[in-house]
Formats: sequence, structure tokens, C-alpha cells
Amino acid sequence: MRQWSLQGKKSGKSIALVPTMGYFHEGHLSLMRMARAIADSVAVSIFVNPTQFAPNEDLDKYPKDIKRDIGLAASIGIDCIFLPDNDAMYEKGFQTWVQVEELSQGLCGKSRPHHFRGVATVVLKLFNIIMPDIAVFGQKDYQQLKIIERMVKDLNLPVKIVPHPIVREPDGLAMSSRNSYLSPQERKSALCLINSLKIAQKSFNEGIVHPDTIRAKMRHEILANKNAKIDYIFIGDADTLKETDTIGDGTLIALAVWIGTTRLIDNIII
Ligand code: PAJ
Repeated sequence: MRQWSLQGKKSGKSIALVPTMGYFHEGHLSLMRMARAIADSVAVSIFVNPTQFAPNEDLDKYPKDIKRDIGLAASIGIDCIFLPDNDAMYEKGFQTWVQVEELSQGLCGKSRPHHFRGVATVVLKLFNIIMPDIAVFGQKDYQQLKIIERMVKDLNLPVKIVPHPIVREPDGLAMSSRNSYLSPQERKSALCLINSLKIAQKSFNEGIVHPDTIRAKMRHEILANKNAKIDYIFIGDADTLKETDTIGDGTLIALAVWIGTTRLIDNIII
């Protein structure tokens, strides 16, 4: 992998990286197209990173279709796919971690306490291995994006982080590899995430600026589905990820909801 990157650098090519866990959908592909448009060479990593999953989570059943992924990446003109195995990424004796402390605590960090430590560590490893000039991250995983941006600043990494907007299904559901877990009934219920965010935006447009009022409306919309359970509804500052007591332009509203046994996330910036 290093050799490929060094060769590219030697001939003056800029390299963009799109880190993924595979099972591509149109969200991943849009990130790749963006990377393709802004760099000379594009590498995509596919690695289902075990250290960002808790023991009770879906590591073992995380969907996989490497052949299909490779075909899709090739159709976009990706130059290189990095497909390491667990032993290559985490050698025996591994014990060094990256912790982006404050930003990792709220939102998804509450119910997934070691998740972002695993994410930051694997992303730094990928940056060190692939040495990209640019890396593209989706705003669907908004907290992840902010954590990576912070890590890049704090550790002086020579990588430009480029955000990509959320890619949605025609009915509004944010695309996710985990949508494949949903039964047809659950797929319908899953619309409560985007619908509750739309209600939040509409309420704000009508002059409601109090987070508790908006949160109550969102909760009502979500809990109208018997199979839905709210993990969190965050309303606050889009940079610090601290809750605020009023909503304004640029406020982040982010949520995680269990639909049956599948945990989905989504967000908007007001
Ligand atoms: P994964 O869930 O495969 O997502 C890879 C990238 O695609 C992330 O940057 C994510 O935000 C983006 N993405 C996923 N769904 C999207 C959508 N609907 N719209 C826009 N972007 C979307 O995120 C991870 O993998 C991992 O945590 C990783 C960063 C690879 C570290 O292991």
C-alpha cells in the first residue's frame, strides 16, 4: 500500500482516501465520486474495524460483499482498494489508542463508550499507511466527522478533511449499510428519523426555538412507531457538540433510534 502511495507522490499526484467498512451504497459511491473529482488518485479502504464495535454489537453480522464492492469502486474509476485483514491492522500486542476526549463523550459516545476511540485509531492508522492528501467523510456520521477534524488539528496531520452531505433514499431515509437489516415493516418505521428532523426544521421555521419543545415533537413522531426506541435526540452546537438552550441557524439536531434491533442515526443542521 505504501509503495503505491509513494509512487504516486513521487510523480506529483495528489491522493484522496475514502475510508469505509464496505457493503457500498450510493452514499459511499458519492464520496468516491467527490474524491475522484478533487484528487489525481483515489484510494478506498474497506475494513470492518473490530475495535469500534462493542462485544454486544453487530461486528459478526456486519454485511459484506467484497466482489460487488470492488466492481462498484472500479466503475467509478477508483485507482486502489486497500483491503487489510484484522491481523495486519492489529498485530499481537497492539496497545496504542487515539482518544479525542470531549467530542467523543456525548451523542453516540454515550451508548457506545469505546466506539470513537476505535474509529480515531483506525483512521489515523489508515492515514499513516496510505498517506493521503485528502480524505472524504460523510456528514451522516456527523460526530465522527467532527472527531476526525479535531484529531487532524490536534495531531498536525497533513490531511485535508472534506465533508460530503448526507445521501438519502428517494423517501428520505439516510443511506446506511445497516438499512439491510430492516424488515419491510421496520423499513417503513425507519422514516421516523428523517420525518422527526423535518418536523424540527418546520417548527423552527415557525418560530419555535426551545430545544425541549422541539425534542417533544420529535419524540412524539418517533414513538408513534411501536418498534422504535430513542437512544438520544441531541440539539446543540455543530462544532463543540455541546447542548444549547436555544435553536438558531447552524444548530445541529442529531438522533439515534433503535428500529427493532437495528440502531440508525441521522442529523440535520438547521
Ligand atoms: P462506513 O459506515 O462504511 O462509512 C464510510 C463513509 O461513508 C463515512 O465517511 C460515512 O459517513 C459515509 N457515509 C455512510 N453513509 C452515508 C450517507 N448516507 N451519506 C453520506 N455519507 C455516508 O464510517 C465508517 O464506515 C467507519 O467508521 C470508518 C470511518 C471507515 C472507520 O472504520
